[in-house]
Amino acid sequence: MLTVAVCMALLSCLQAQELQGHVTIILLGATGDLAKKYLWQGLFNLYLDESVKGYRFSFNGGALTPTKQGQEHVAKVLESLSCPKDVAPDRCAELKDQFQRLSQYRCVKTSEDYLALSKDIEAQVQHSGVREIGRIFYFSVPPFAYVDIARNINSSCRPGQDTWLRVVLEKPFGHDLLSAQQLATQLGSFFREEEMYRVDHYLGKQVVAQILPFRDQNHRALDGLWNRHHVERVEIVMKETVDVAGRISFYDRYGVIRDILQNHLTEVLTLVAMELPHNISSVESVLQRKLQAFQALRGLQKGSAVLGQYQAYSEQVHRELQKPDSFRSLTPTFAGVLVHMDNLRWEGVPFILMSGKALDERVSYIRVLFKNRAYCSQNEKHWLEGQSHCLPQQIIFNIGYGELGSPAVLVSRTLFRPSLPAESWKEVASRPGLRLFGRPMSDFYAYSPVREQDAYTVLISRIFHHQKDSFVTTQNLLASWAFWSPLLESLANEVPRLYPGGAENGQLLDFEFRDTQLSFSQQPLEQLVPGPGSTPKPSDFQALGAKYRDSPLISAWPEELVAKLASDIEATAVRAVQRSGKFHLALSGGSSPVALFQELATGHYGFPWAHTHLWLADERCVPLWDPESNFQGLQAHLLQHIRVPYYNIHPMPVHLHQRLCAEEDQGTQIYAEEISALVANSSFDLVLLGMGTDGHTASLFPQSPSGLDGEQLVVLTKSPSRPHNRMSFSLPLINRARRVAVLVMGRMKREITTLVSRVGHDPQKWPISGVQPSSGQLVWYMDYEAFLG
Ligand SMILES: *[C@@H]1O[C@H](CO)[C@@H](O)[C@H](O)[C@H]1NC(C)=O
Ligand SMILES: *[C@@H]1O[C@H](CO)[C@@H](O)[C@H](O)[C@H]1NC(C)=O
Ligand SMILES: *[C@@H]1O[C@H](CO)[C@@H](O)[C@H](O)[C@H]1NC(C)=O
Repeated sequence: MLTVAVCMALLSCLQAQELQGHVTIILLGATGDLAKKYLWQGLFNLYLDESVKGYRFSFNGGALTPTKQGQEHVAKVLESLSCPKDVAPDRCAELKDQFQRLSQYRCVKTSEDYLALSKDIEAQVQHSGVREIGRIFYFSVPPFAYVDIARNINSSCRPGQDTWLRVVLEKPFGHDLLSAQQLATQLGSFFREEEMYRVDHYLGKQVVAQILPFRDQNHRALDGLWNRHHVERVEIVMKETVDVAGRISFYDRYGVIRDILQNHLTEVLTLVAMELPHNISSVESVLQRKLQAFQALRGLQKGSAVLGQYQAYSEQVHRELQKPDSFRSLTPTFAGVLVHMDNLRWEGVPFILMSGKALDERVSYIRVLFKNRAYCSQNEKHWLEGQSHCLPQQIIFNIGYGELGSPAVLVSRTLFRPSLPAESWKEVASRPGLRLFGRPMSDFYAYSPVREQDAYTVLISRIFHHQKDSFVTTQNLLASWAFWSPLLESLANEVPRLYPGGAENGQLLDFEFRDTQLSFSQQPLEQLVPGPGSTPKPSDFQALGAKYRDSPLISAWPEELVAKLASDIEATAVRAVQRSGKFHLALSGGSSPVALFQELATGHYGFPWAHTHLWLADERCVPLWDPESNFQGLQAHLLQHIRVPYYNIHPMPVHLHQRLCAEEDQGTQIYAEEISALVANSSFDLVLLGMGTDGHTASLFPQSPSGLDGEQLVVLTKSPSRPHNRMSFSLPLINRARRVAVLVMGRMKREITTLVSRVGHDPQKWPISGVQPSSGQLVWYMDYEAFLG
């Protein structure tokens, strides 16, 4: 490029070049945004670079815009083109003038238009007086137009023998595996594989294009490091501050995974992860290694991703798609995905892919973080600047923006001094005060391109030079969709977490991983809800202080709800132990608590189990080892995973003297006495209840002759629908508790939830309505299905 600029300055230069031949470029969608922003400039840059090497060009813009209007539009765009910095203004004006004379616009719609276009191209070639060597058709049009245009080009615009045809396609290339296959098959009937150039403009970003050369040139240092033994994790990130207002009609059908992760971030992932070919200049080997990288990707599951949606999105959807207020789009605008590769090099190394709109900053990078086993005995202030082995060791490909503001390759000084091609990359001086990834810039060797080039200029040049490894082949495209489609399907009904946008997101979108699972680090604030009867609106999903039967209501999707309840129980336990040295927890049976027990059994390491007393709020009259026994459920899902002293576990005495719940054995009194002896004032720190579809709670059923009032703390009852009798806490005992949590989950509970929201205090009909702690706090935990149906 530098030599070209010098050459352009010499008048005799052109004559000195041998004429190479004529190339025609046809830009379809010539009046569109992409054309205006990048493509015409990219074509001009191509012209500047290649015409001095003896190539002749003609440029044809085409679109549906009527000819006259389109000509005016294109003329304005051409007027705004710019030359490289080193070209003098009058020389630039001259070059622009040449380019404008070689460029024209026409309206192309029908097959006749394409025939006429073809005739014109032939005339242009004739006029230039040199041999035609190729034609490039750049499709900057919506994908639904591809097939028609492709048919017209195939039937009318193919050049003659010994002249190449290249068609350039822009994403989206399908919506999932099936649609991508269909589109590929259709296009495959018009064009040969080597004729198609699918653009992923990320592959034209200078830093991305440098990944393989960097790995190759620094292979001595990297050979030992670029693997699971040394890499802690890899982050591939594209954060944006903008939202998608104005683009909703496109975006809402795609979402962030299809828009960014499936293509840009996946392409980058393969460049980082693939085995380095022996010859990185060999297009075939690069493409083959890339395909092998796809094959090593481990399948994704629902739990591999976290999704978000910025809060204003709903309103934008309502406005731009004219949807009713009750409509809620589930399209994610934020996603974090955990990817693993099943091969020897990367086994066990987490690759984190993340992208989102309306985030706090605009930045895009790949960060390879190395494991660090060093321990430094001296205080940080005594470390040699940037040289301590305790510093994080990382390689960062800063694709663009961010604090640094420009594309760069950064390598921790404690790793090695990298080598980059000196003619195109320069070392950048450290900027005092600038911190990157938590470290002062002086920690890194940093390199930037000598001359920044936009991705489209790079790609157009590569199309011209037939460098197909910078494009997405059909095989790679389908491999990528095959990888992403199952995840997309499994997430189709997933409700994304709402986030306010910008700096206000705080830690709401932070996530963490455990094995193959990703989850948000922070439980959402108490989410939801309007009172029953009114239709929930999207804005209600973050409402604080929701109430149900005048008590606090926490509502969320099941996993979040259970996680929230588990943390609330843990917090209550910690407080109780601080206050009294003990935590008395009474649990009831049913299926809902199983997920809760599992949640409590894993991950709640701060739970004071050693000081916790576990009681049962109800039990079936079956032996304790019976699978139907509530105690068995507790045992299987919780007790065997935690360490509670055995004398702190208090099963209900339903099985005495080899009889089940016999009045004479006075099991109820025995349990009541045990409670009175151990639990101060018989006031449990927490009683966890459920709600049956008939309004029962614990084992207190409608019309029960006992337990709904009176003095008894523990009673025998009868289940109307099940053969066994039950033992249960009475309502008066429950209502002495300091805290009562009622967990209600599942669509089946929808009706009773609505009903009970309206009834007053009527325990005879709906025992749950009698739960009213006299001095304690009642909290409802309902999942959306139970609450909203
Ligand atoms: C593409 O063009 C060739 C040559 O004109 C023709 O034989 C073929 O049928 C065309 N393909 C389609 C799908 O129309
Ligand atoms: C690498 O591949 C390129 C392109 O195929 C070729 O020109 C070059 O000779 C190859 N280099 C080696 C060392 O094989
Ligand atoms: C004991 O429990 C009863 C009933 O809930 C309550 O009224 C009373 O204040 C409690 N006494 C103490 C000392 O907590």
